[in-house]
Amino acid sequence: MKNLISAFDFDQAELKTVFGLAKRMKQNPLSYRDLFNGKALGLIFEKPSTRTWVSFEVGFTTMGGHVIYLGPDDIQLGVREEVRDVARTLARYLDLIVMRTYSHELILEFASHFKKTVINGLSDLEHPCQAMADFFTIGEALGDFKNKKIAYIGDGNNVLNSLLILAAQLGAHLHYATPKSCAPQAAIVTRALKEAKRTKAKLVATTKPQEAVRGADIIYTDVWVSMGEEEKTKKQNCFEGFQVNRSLLKKAAKEVRVMHCLPAHRGEEITNDVIEGKHSIVFDQAENRLHVQKAIIVYLLRSERAGS
Ligand code: CP
Ligand code: NVA
Repeated sequence: MKNLISAFDFDQAELKTVFGLAKRMKQNPLSYRDLFNGKALGLIFEKPSTRTWVSFEVGFTTMGGHVIYLGPDDIQLGVREEVRDVARTLARYLDLIVMRTYSHELILEFASHFKKTVINGLSDLEHPCQAMADFFTIGEALGDFKNKKIAYIGDGNNVLNSLLILAAQLGAHLHYATPKSCAPQAAIVTRALKEAKRTKAKLVATTKPQEAVRGADIIYTDVWVSMGEEEKTKKQNCFEGFQVNRSLLKKAAKEVRVMHCLPAHRGEEITNDVIEGKHSIVFDQAENRLHVQKAIIVYLLRSERAGS
């Protein structure tokens, strides 16, 4: 039994296997249409979602499985009854769960009682499915991500945490510019840097967006205020100079590609003309959530299938 709760849960070989599988599934989706007949996937979402919800639901149903969405008012995890009771009950009905929570710890607690596959569909700490789809997209766009410069500009949030881990695992070069007070999680950075030594990845921190984007092949950004942080409106004042706009793009490589996990706040972290412009690959990136997550599910459930 294997989970995807942190991006650290997949090593380089596993990531490459999933990317290869995702490529084949994207090219030939109909070959996988009966794979999960009779299986059920639950989606426990405490926060709103467009891409994660729909891509998991479409992905699993088009592979023959059944999906049930459980929103914040449905099971009221930990409020109506204890997490361990919900987890043990749902384990009797479902084959796997995707969870989107405020607290990363809640996913870990749930997984310890569920004892079947759990996938993190975004927590306050990580967004591993997003980062996996992003590196798959970078591979598609650039041919390879080795010796390419990826620049992340903005908040040191869940998305950056998972991108840093995957860059480290895959040996990629990620230069990230965040305000000093919005750095990624220190424990993740420390562990990622240790891993980077082994894979020859470069993880370079700066507070200067112009430095991070110099010659970059990819510029990536995300919202300045994540879901659940809405109270911290003061945070936005830190981001002066961190907007991905035409003048910042001029410092990057001529053919730079621009990525954003979406939803975007146009006019804040990214301008409308950049997101609509010729460098933007944001909707290829959004599409790849579907293919990569299908591959993640196939990979995670394959040991159970092999035993059945
Ligand atoms: N990028 C992403 O996870 O989008 P949603 O919040 O719409 O799922
Ligand atoms: N960092 C953002 C990502 C949304 C997909 C958030 O957590 O709201």
